[in-house]
Amino acid sequence: MIELRDITKTYRMGKIAVHALRGVSLEVKAGELVAIVGPSGSGKSTLMNIIGCFDVPTSGEYRLEGKEVGRLTDNDLARLRNRKIGFVFQKFNLLPQLTAWENVQVPLLYAGVRLQERRERAAKALRQVGLGDRLHHRPNEMSGGQQQRVAIARALVTRPSFLLADEPTGNLDSNSGREIMDLLFSLNEEGTTLIVVTHDGLLAKRFPRLVEIRDGQLVREEVQ
Ligand SMILES: Nc1ncnc2c1ncn2[C@@H]1O[C@H](COP(=O)(O)OP(=O)(O)OP(=O)(O)O)[C@@H](O)[C@H]1O
Ligand SMILES: [Mg+2]
Repeated sequence: MIELRDITKTYRMGKIAVHALRGVSLEVKAGELVAIVGPSGSGKSTLMNIIGCFDVPTSGEYRLEGKEVGRLTDNDLARLRNRKIGFVFQKFNLLPQLTAWENVQVPLLYAGVRLQERRERAAKALRQVGLGDRLHHRPNEMSGGQQQRVAIARALVTRPSFLLADEPTGNLDSNSGREIMDLLFSLNEEGTTLIVVTHDGLLAKRFPRLVEIRDGQLVREEVQ
C-alpha cells in the first residue's frame, strides 16, 4: 500500500546541502501498525511529510496504493492527501479562532461535503474521541490532551486509509499521552493503517513493528 524505494531528500540552504534522507526503502501494508524511532534530526518528520504527501522526495519512488506520487501535480497531491491521509502533529495545529466542531469540519469543506453532512460527521468524530461535550470550545479553552483529540477527530473525519502521527504525545503528560495512544490503537483495530513517530521507547514497544532511522537511513527493523 505504501511503497518507498530509495527515497532521498536534500534541503538546499544557499550553498549548503542537508541530506535529511539518504536512500530509504520501506513498505507498509494495509492495516499495519508501525512505530518510527530515531534521534532528533535523523529524518523522521521529513519521512512522515513525504509519506503524508506534504512534501516530495528529491529522488526515489513513492507509490501510494499503486500510484506514483512523484508524477502527480500539486492539485492531485492535495486531493490524494485529503482523501487518503489523516495527519496528527505534535503541536496539534488547530485553527485558534475556530471551535472544535469547526476545526473538524475543515477537511470536509475541502472535500466538498455539504454543510449539513459536515456538521453531522464532525460531531460524530468528536463523540468518537470522547469530546461530544466540547463542540463549541476553542483550542485555548481545552487541555492539551483534548486539543490533540480534536486534531485526531479532524484527521479521521475524512475516513482516511492512513493515519500518520508525528510525536502525537510529545506535548502531553504521560496520562493524556497514554489515552491518546489508546485511541490511536483503537482506530488501527478498526482497520486504519497507523504510522507513529515517537521518542518514547516504552511506547514503541507496544507496536508490532518498529523501524529505526539514523542519519537519514533505516538502520534497524524489529517485528515484535
Ligand atoms: N525545511 C528544512 N530546511 C532545511 N533543513 C531541514 C528542513 N527540515 C528539516 N531539515 C533538516 O533535516 C534533518 C532532518 O530533520 P527532521 O525534522 O526530519 O528530523 P526529526 O528526526 O524529525 O527530528 P526531531 O526528533 O527533532 O523532530 C535535520 O538535520 C534538519 O535540520
Ligand atoms: Mg520531527
